[in-house]
Amino acid sequence: MQNFQYYAPTKVVFGKDTETETGKLIKEQGGSRVLLHYGGSSAKKSGLLDRICASLEKEGISYVCLGGVKPNPRLSLVREGIELCKKEKVDFLLAVGGGSVIDSAKAIGYGLANEGDVWDFYAQKRTASACMPVGTVLTIAAAGSEMSNSSVITKEEGWIKRGYSSNYCRCRFAVMNPELTYTLPKYQTASGCVDIILHTMERYFSKESGTMLTDSLAEGLMRTVMNNAKVLMKDPQNYEARAQIMWAGSLSHNGLTGCGMTEDWASHQLEHELSAMFDVAHGAGLAAIWGSWARYVYMEKPERFAQYGVNVLGIPMDCSNFARTALQSIEETERFFQALEMPISIHELGYDLTEEQLQELAFKCSNEDKRTIGGFRVLNREDMLKIYRMAK
Ligand code: NZQ
Ligand code: ZN
Repeated sequence: MQNFQYYAPTKVVFGKDTETETGKLIKEQGGSRVLLHYGGSSAKKSGLLDRICASLEKEGISYVCLGGVKPNPRLSLVREGIELCKKEKVDFLLAVGGGSVIDSAKAIGYGLANEGDVWDFYAQKRTASACMPVGTVLTIAAAGSEMSNSSVITKEEGWIKRGYSSNYCRCRFAVMNPELTYTLPKYQTASGCVDIILHTMERYFSKESGTMLTDSLAEGLMRTVMNNAKVLMKDPQNYEARAQIMWAGSLSHNGLTGCGMTEDWASHQLEHELSAMFDVAHGAGLAAIWGSWARYVYMEKPERFAQYGVNVLGIPMDCSNFARTALQSIEETERFFQALEMPISIHELGYDLTEEQLQELAFKCSNEDKRTIGGFRVLNREDMLKIYRMAK
């Protein structure tokens, strides 16, 4: 087990009607002039924005609105948000939405609290020294940004998607009412569930030993999401299933399932290039790539994949041949993705890529051949290309 720090400072306010407490929560944080940041249309259409505005007004908190955050949030809107907040003297950022809106708010927060160009942080040119406080009312269980230390932004120029992580951007509070996720399209629910499972896998597929407690938490989380995701495919308004998945989404990415582990994150890096280039839903992109990554790396430690298969999927262990159980667990995971109507190849994601495009993905993912990715197995550009080809 590795040394670790666990820091999860976000106040979670979970359950029915909790969005009515938003005004009070902002006041508690000292906010008085708020940016109300949201996405395309869902929060407006459902009446959620009106309820939140009422909650702010009740506490005497003034606000300015900036909607229009797109999935795979764009740098140009972040820049617009920074200018608006400066002009309006905003002191608190409220993200009403999912990972894209929260990440956009976090980026605006970095831009307000630091001099210079905000993209520098995402380009890993320098580090931030602060972030304006962010709170969220979550409307989709997926990215885990409500408790995570990261923010992922897409720069339109060159379509580069990059993440930046620091504890400064952790949400001060996260309001999580599972009922708010009833209106999600089936595809987004499924895509979110894949993302939650992947956040756990990226930490779980590790060569570390002596991680019994962290393993058990991760395995329990993955089983919970798999069982409840199947429930939601038939019964999208099942409160208990929505609640289990929403809480799992936060715990999958607040660091808990990574305590003591060396982490991987290769599937995420490979996927970020897909959603940058083709603007696909992040979770669907992960489903399309994961099986190919897993087949490429599992022989590094087949017993780890076998353990996952046994403890999460209920596959019997073949102790004379861990590799066999490992392969079965990869196939069974893909069958689970298919049961959620998620793609298990880039073709099924809707794209038939040329060799040139696959080369471009690998070139970008390796930061123009300047970085490797992965912890379970370290991957260079050539490895990335092979995985993209397998996933084609
Ligand atoms: O824009 P609206 O109309 O709100 O529609 C959104 C959007 O189209 C819709 N939606 C959200 N809540 C809804 C709803 N539709 C109906 N009812 C509701 N209650 O769902 C669509 C997707 O929203 P988005 O915020 O993009 O989803 P998600 O939470 O999956 O976020 C994805 C982004 O987060 C990044 C991804 O790369 C991607 O850019 N990630 C962020 C992470 C982090 N900050 O820690 C980690 C993740 O690994 C991930 O990379
Ligand atoms: Zn993710």
